[in-house]
Amino acid sequence: MEDGDHGGTVRAWLRGIEVFAGPLPEFEPERAPADPVRLFLSWLSDAVADGVRDPHAMTLSTVDEAGDPDARVLILKGVDTSGWQFAGHRLSPKGHQLAVHPRAALTFYWPEHGRQVRLRGPVTPASAQEGAADFLGRSATARAESLLARQSQYLTDTAERDHDLAKALALIDKDPSLVDSAWTLYTLAPAEVEFWQAAKSRVHTRLRYERAGDSWQRFQLWS
Ligand SMILES: Cc1cc2nc3c(=O)[nH]c(=O)nc-3n(C[C@H](O)[C@H](O)[C@H](O)COP(=O)(O)O)c2cc1C
Repeated sequence: MEDGDHGGTVRAWLRGIEVFAGPLPEFEPERAPADPVRLFLSWLSDAVADGVRDPHAMTLSTVDEAGDPDARVLILKGVDTSGWQFAGHRLSPKGHQLAVHPRAALTFYWPEHGRQVRLRGPVTPASAQEGAADFLGRSATARAESLLARQSQYLTDTAERDHDLAKALALIDKDPSLVDSAWTLYTLAPAEVEFWQAAKSRVHTRLRYERAGDSWQRFQLWS
């Protein structure tokens, strides 16, 4: 697609791109487990088994102080009955946003299977020990970048960046157990989790789990 094409051409081009090429799996919501964690892990396992790229990448949506939405892709760090975990810097924009509005949404999409999972709910920081364990599992460069605490700031001088990064890497080299206390593991405890399965017929299947005390209610949704 060349620059300067008229909107109509772009629209036609976009319309011609295939979506849900498949082959798509069957989803029978009547047979879904009572717990969304089980279904999520089964869909994620399917994605891993079929070689879906970055199957544990998801979009984290947050809201800033002014009420404006923001979103970015993160890696899923853990899932259990307490919720879905991700990690980031407390002083990054997402960290500030979560401090002001500790609620978020997570969205997964596995294109090869035509499957989407959406979650919404409150977010809480995990303990310092859990944050430290996640931090120490990261690459030396990722740990060094975290120590600089400059994520998403304007980068005006790459030489300064390389210099500061080298200094932080030297610190880590000297003390490999060094932990950045601002690196935070967060848990989103979903109030609702929706599983969306595309169908070639375009009659897609949607199943939403809504938290009801200690258990879950299941609802099918119109597509
Ligand atoms: C596949 C992928 C995985 C990523 N994983 C993380 C992650 O686990 N934690 C993180 O802080 N940023 C991760 N990022 C970078 C974020 O998308 C984002 O650029 C960064 O966190 C700054 O976001 P913010 O300015 O909204 O705070 C990842 C990006 C991609 C494309």
